[in-house]
Amino acid sequence: MICNYIKLKNYRNIEEAEVFFENGVNVLIGDNAQGKTNLLEGIYTFALGKSFRGAKEADVIKFGENESLSMIGFTTNSRSDIQTLKIRLRKGSRRQIEMNGVRLERLSEMIGSFRAVLFCPEHLSLIKEGPSMRRNYLDVAISQFRPVYLRSLQRYHAILEQRNKLIKNAEDDRVTLDATIGLWSEQLAHEAAVIANFRSKYVKKVGEEVAKYFEKMTGMSEKVEMQYIGSSKQTEEEYGDIKAIENRYLQLLTENIDREIGASSTLWGIHKDDIEILINGKSARMFGSQGQQRSLALAMKLAEGDICFSETGDRPVLLLDDVLSELDEKRRKFLLSNVRDRQVIITTCEKTDFGEAKRINVEGGKYSV
Ligand SMILES: Nc1ncnc2c1ncn2[C@@H]1O[C@H](COP(=O)(O)OP(=O)(O)O)[C@@H](O)[C@H]1O
Ligand SMILES: [Mg+2]
Repeated sequence: MICNYIKLKNYRNIEEAEVFFENGVNVLIGDNAQGKTNLLEGIYTFALGKSFRGAKEADVIKFGENESLSMIGFTTNSRSDIQTLKIRLRKGSRRQIEMNGVRLERLSEMIGSFRAVLFCPEHLSLIKEGPSMRRNYLDVAISQFRPVYLRSLQRYHAILEQRNKLIKNAEDDRVTLDATIGLWSEQLAHEAAVIANFRSKYVKKVGEEVAKYFEKMTGMSEKVEMQYIGSSKQTEEEYGDIKAIENRYLQLLTENIDREIGASSTLWGIHKDDIEILINGKSARMFGSQGQQRSLALAMKLAEGDICFSETGDRPVLLLDDVLSELDEKRRKFLLSNVRDRQVIITTCEKTDFGEAKRINVEGGKYSV
């Protein structure tokens, strides 16, 4: 997968820009607040379907403007002609998305066509943060190569919202709850089962890759394991069987409704999942050193790219936002020596030597080579 170019208009601090990238390493160099991350944000939006900075859609429109345009051209292993994706945002009206000139109804329809892996400093806390960051890791990673996963996830969250509303209103309206909760629980259990099944398979695969990277990086033979921890607390074998997961969730959601009313929310489901990461059988989150936690996070990001490659036959574009300055010399070298065979777009404030990289200078929302 190669991002050949990006064109931006009235996007963040960028009035107008057209930036071309090469196959190997591309480095965006500039001082703080010049527009390095803004450009990566623009690119990654085409992979993620939204801003990775959690911005509201209109936030990316340049201050004082009403409309922004972004467009990328990219090539894949299986198709060498340049494909395009385009997003037009306008204040007060619906965004427009085009893929190869054809309008798409939903942003999520384009996900999986242009694939990228983002690694930014926040990801270095993947291990020590709470579970929601790890769930997000799984959701982003799996959605890149399994659009059905993303659709399940979207349905799941819509159903969860409805079910939570019923539960919150239970004191005032127990009748409606008793009449309808069963249906919501069934639908929720079904989507939860599909998602848990994907997540459990993914954790198994990615865990094996992470263990290998960790060993190479540290030169030690500590045993790293990753385990999927679903809130239905089933075994790995059971998570291989969608019907078994669905039945268990339905049972939990049916038998514990009074507890859920007490807590004012749905207490079981994939919104409570986590990944347990163990070093020699001990929780890396609780007992790992900061260095070990960072090495694991780095390994998880590299492995995310590898699994995407093995699932699609194409290496996703690697976007490294300011992460090199956060890593020590050893880990920085390790990262760079493991990403030679793909396109990488790096942002940095430092004038480090990147060898044969394409250098792009960034100043005030302008990009020059
Ligand atoms: N919607 C917007 N319109 C104009 N400027 C913006 C907008 N959003 C952010 N910025 C500006 O972009 C700059 C930050 O750019 P960024 O790409 O994050 O910098 P860096 O080069 O350090 O990565 C800040 O000066 C900020 O004010
Ligand atoms: Mg930045």
